[in-house]
Amino acid sequence: MQEAKITLDRDFVIGEIDPRLYGSFLEHLGRAIYTGIYEPDHPTADELGFRRDVLELVRELGVSIVRYPGGNFVSGYNWEDGVGPRSERPRRLDLSWRTVETNEVGLNEFAAWAKKAGAEVMMAVNLGTRGPDAARSLVEYCNHPGGSYWSDLRRAHGVTEPHRIKVWCLGNEMDGPWQIGHKTAEEYGRLACETAKVMRWVDPSIELGVCGSSGEGMPTFPSWEVTVLEHTYEHVDYLSLHTYFGNRDGDLANFLAQSVGMDRFIRTAIAACDYVQAKKRGKKRINLSFDEWNVWYHSNEADRKIEPWSIAPPLLEDIYNLVDALVVGCMLITLLKHADRIKIACLAQLVNVIAPIMTVKGGPAWRQTIFYPFLHASRYARGTALATLVRAPLYDTKQFEAVPLLEAVATVEEERGELVIFAVNRSQEEALALEVELRGMRAAYRPLEHLVLANDDPQAVNTAAEPYRVAPYLQEGAKLEDDRLKVILPRLSWNTIRLRKA
Ligand code: AHR
Repeated sequence: MQEAKITLDRDFVIGEIDPRLYGSFLEHLGRAIYTGIYEPDHPTADELGFRRDVLELVRELGVSIVRYPGGNFVSGYNWEDGVGPRSERPRRLDLSWRTVETNEVGLNEFAAWAKKAGAEVMMAVNLGTRGPDAARSLVEYCNHPGGSYWSDLRRAHGVTEPHRIKVWCLGNEMDGPWQIGHKTAEEYGRLACETAKVMRWVDPSIELGVCGSSGEGMPTFPSWEVTVLEHTYEHVDYLSLHTYFGNRDGDLANFLAQSVGMDRFIRTAIAACDYVQAKKRGKKRINLSFDEWNVWYHSNEADRKIEPWSIAPPLLEDIYNLVDALVVGCMLITLLKHADRIKIACLAQLVNVIAPIMTVKGGPAWRQTIFYPFLHASRYARGTALATLVRAPLYDTKQFEAVPLLEAVATVEEERGELVIFAVNRSQEEALALEVELRGMRAAYRPLEHLVLANDDPQAVNTAAEPYRVAPYLQEGAKLEDDRLKVILPRLSWNTIRLRKA
């Protein structure tokens, strides 16, 4: 068995973990909304038509904030289409996904759903086909109490209290040629600046995120960030980043190392934020909103066969295996390692569309493999993130050099009296014997439980017929010897090791 060591110290503080790190995303795309969260004919549907079985799983996952309504969809969306009497709402061609949008669900229904789910809404405005005027009207409709055209319209639609939506995205992936209304950094920077100003003039309490790059591989990264922030620094709070990973060539070792690239992407984006702050002699620090991240590749082929202009077709329905869950685990650890600068993150997406939760129309809902790392992090990675000093065997891949077999971070939560270590063993061959030196925390903590997600078959998946094939289990054997915790991490595993104050 190979060996790995972690040195932990209560003083190795990265930063406080913002609860919005456990956000997700629901777009009007495929079956995310229709037959995902909303299915009025479903046996579990509530009085508003929302599936109770799905709501329960979302609550179990502990999702804190949900980005809406897109994604690429938002860049062609007229938000007014989704409010007011349902019978008067238009059917529209959605050019981003080549489907028909019925507008049965719009922002008021979504806000009601989010409330039931216990999550905050993060609203995106259309900066593809629209601009400051539609955005300021939307803020007025959502957040102004009353006594003005748009706020009174909301009241006339039966929503007396304002939604008080705090976090807003200034468009979506505006650096991507696939985006409706794609722009250069200059064009977008100017538009985002003017839009931000009027949105804030309507409601000065809102927080704004400006589009950064859609991935580290974008040819305009990182000069895009610099140009856009030079235009918007004074008016925004967050730079938004997106990343998806896939294993298209079956190179598992390289796929498991992808979070190394995510880490580099984050560090460069932070450098761009700090460069603009310095250049502007600014006091404000721009933080990151990593508002789309996940594994996405299984469904690419199937999506090419979808009939255009269908209503809620099964698009982007990736079925995730164990290895995908480990990559998601590594991505979560990477986000936590930057808890000082990443204040919002959204697993993209939440239901059916590249999602931890799957549904069958008229049938059951179940947890995909990637549900579990997110669940464990949202439940136990609270309080303060602590850096880990890791010594582990290294390996090279075609993209990365010196990748450690062990990926890890720790968190400490004083109220619960818990110290938690999150670790992925990337080894395809063997278990890792892990020794954790609890420096400065000697005798303070005792092992409470060690949760493991692993499987003999790295390709194992959960399905409607077999929903619990890949599920976490408790592993015995974690022991404390003086100030050293000794624990075995099975090969290809996600581990949550909880210690409680003695
Ligand atoms: O999440 C799916 C899509 O991925 C989103 O619509 C878009 O923003 C990204 O390219």
